[in-house]
Amino acid sequence: MYASLKSIGSYVPEKILTNKDFEKFIDTSDEWIVQRTGIKERRIAADDQATSDMGALAAQKAIERAGIDKNDIDLVMCATLSPDHLCMPSTACLISDKVGIRNAMAFDISAACSGFVYMLSMAKAFIESGAKKNILLVGAEKISSLVDYTDRGTCILFGDGAGAAIISATEDKNEAIIDVHASADGKYSDLLITPGCGSKYPCRAENVKDKLQYIKMAGNEVFKVAVRTLTKDVVDILKTNNLKSEDVDIFIPHQANLRIIEAVRNKLNFPTEKTVFTVAKYGNTSAASIPMAINDAYEEGRLKKGDLMLLDTFGGGFTWASALVKFGGN
Ligand code: UT7
Repeated sequence: MYASLKSIGSYVPEKILTNKDFEKFIDTSDEWIVQRTGIKERRIAADDQATSDMGALAAQKAIERAGIDKNDIDLVMCATLSPDHLCMPSTACLISDKVGIRNAMAFDISAACSGFVYMLSMAKAFIESGAKKNILLVGAEKISSLVDYTDRGTCILFGDGAGAAIISATEDKNEAIIDVHASADGKYSDLLITPGCGSKYPCRAENVKDKLQYIKMAGNEVFKVAVRTLTKDVVDILKTNNLKSEDVDIFIPHQANLRIIEAVRNKLNFPTEKTVFTVAKYGNTSAASIPMAINDAYEEGRLKKGDLMLLDTFGGGFTWASALVKFGGN
């Protein structure tokens, strides 16, 4: 039995925050942001919209497109760094409820931007072992709730949104998740971190006053490790599977910074027409970035059944992951 990515869906909130909007409240410019990141605008969730609300809308779309009965879903996983609640219930439980899935195992994973590809690795193992048959994966983020809008080094980068996929058992190798590589190295944990509101610096007035609840990033150092790691990831997974860049139909990298994507793409000789770029319109949506990008490629008609996708991602932890996936949807 193989695991197949049968469908994809996404949801983006209506509100758009443009680079020009930032010029009104921080010392920045549209020109700087476009030049250094490639980002032009990002979506921001409504005040009363939580991560699970966006995740549920993306999930509904993925379920509909897979053409399966939601009662046949036996596992729901959600990757997020902006859960509705810090400890419990998990965002996966809330999404299950909103979608109407009962009695399925449900839990969140914490792997920052690499979360969606980490989940693919688990979904593959659950299905190949015969333990589960239909799995709903959701990458959903309300990162605007973790961003310090006075910190110009981070606030311009992030956006909100959600992506979801159905992974089902199949006997057809031509629509299977071929391989997933996922790794981490905690020695870099301080370079990209939300220090507060966990057990180390609890959500108390003094820690909130020090703004420890917000994302802190040593941008330039993260940038260098990201380029190095994302490139090595692709080289390794292609080599392990005796494949070349030319064998890949569509390259879908994590959408953090256009310069990072371009550095990796050029090193590996992926043509622009085989690469998916969504960073200009959504910014960095962390765990939602990869499924949102797959969704846009699908909706643009760039993804056909059997196409070989190469996914590549990197994030806080540090975590990183790559995957070779034959698209199993219609
Ligand atoms: O998803 C997880 C992975 N995340 C990433 O991969 C993000 C990686 N990092 C980046 O994308 C980039 O490092 C940034 C876009 C965050 C920053 O770009 P950079 O080219 O690395 O700039 P820098 O941090 O070296 O800063 C250069 C200058 C600094 O000024 P000084 O010290 O040279 O006077 C910054 O203060 O740019 C300044 N700067 C800004 N200027 C205008 C930083 N942010 C801004 C801003 N507007 N928004």
